[in-house]
Amino acid sequence: MDATAVAHANIALVKYWGKIDTAANIPAVGSLSLTLSNLWTRTSVNFRRPLKEDRVFINEHRARPAVMKKVVHFLDEVRRRTETDRYCEVRSINSFPTAAGMASSASGFAALAVAAMHAAGHPLTPTDASALARLGSGSAARSIFGGFAELPGGDPANAPAAIQIADEHFWPLTVLVAITDDTPKPVSSRTAMEMTKLHSPFYAAWVDTAGRDLETMRAAVLRRDLETVGALAEHSALKMHGLMMSARPGLLYWNPGTVAVIQEVLNLRKEGLAVYFTIDAGPQVKVLCRRRDKATVADRLLALSGVRSLMLCRPGPSARVEEDV
Ligand code: DP6
Repeated sequence: MDATAVAHANIALVKYWGKIDTAANIPAVGSLSLTLSNLWTRTSVNFRRPLKEDRVFINEHRARPAVMKKVVHFLDEVRRRTETDRYCEVRSINSFPTAAGMASSASGFAALAVAAMHAAGHPLTPTDASALARLGSGSAARSIFGGFAELPGGDPANAPAAIQIADEHFWPLTVLVAITDDTPKPVSSRTAMEMTKLHSPFYAAWVDTAGRDLETMRAAVLRRDLETVGALAEHSALKMHGLMMSARPGLLYWNPGTVAVIQEVLNLRKEGLAVYFTIDAGPQVKVLCRRRDKATVADRLLALSGVRSLMLCRPGPSARVEEDV
């Protein structure tokens, strides 16, 4: 009747942006991500106590109404699948700022999917957990898996689940997460991607070019080719942000610190280091480099006035249930 699960956030190297089915949350394009070691959510779900409604706490505070609505909707799906009518208490802790463009919904719904189904007595295979997590948040489907994961898109007939391309031991890269603003973002990814789909003249081109990006990225990851992975990750991020900027009204998640980090990454590259950036729907910049270069890169990023803090990550593990000790 109760269970705790941990899932890690991920960064998309090829981005998911846009849906073909909003209700079933099916992405319009495939995406490929790297799960991160130090960005995680730990979620406990308890069906034991008799409750009149679900109770949800994030970082010890009652969830805001918009978050509550998404979580209750997700728990309704868990109740439907497990044929229970009990309400539950959910307590979730993030190791990083919530809803600030750092994939808290990815680790959050992945941990919730695993913990809730386990607590309800119906543990899932990773593939089924991934398809369920996707209903909460598209990127959460990938956070079920450690290392590199791919979420197919584009087929409304199949409710997709992510697949693992390579585990967390395959390629010991470093990801530095440069936090330039830790307050919640003004527009959620969900709303922003819908606005883009409806109001950007470039949306069709985004969908058309996504398949090729995914194929190229998968092959580059599998041969551990950092130059290709990095260049394509930057391209996918800039293409997605360009798409958002071209919506009406245009969406800009960046701040001066975001731009300063991008420029410093370009400077480091000119100096000969293999360093690359990517940015999800928020102002934080995730910087990819070889492990041996991490101290140099970290020093340079921390010297920028727009960088409030830096989180150092390596590839992270799959979502898992925590046994009581
Ligand atoms: C920019 O997975 O948060 O991080 O499915 O509507 O919950 P919903 O969206 P979400 O969007 C992620 C967008 C992104 C790119 C990515 O992670 O692929």
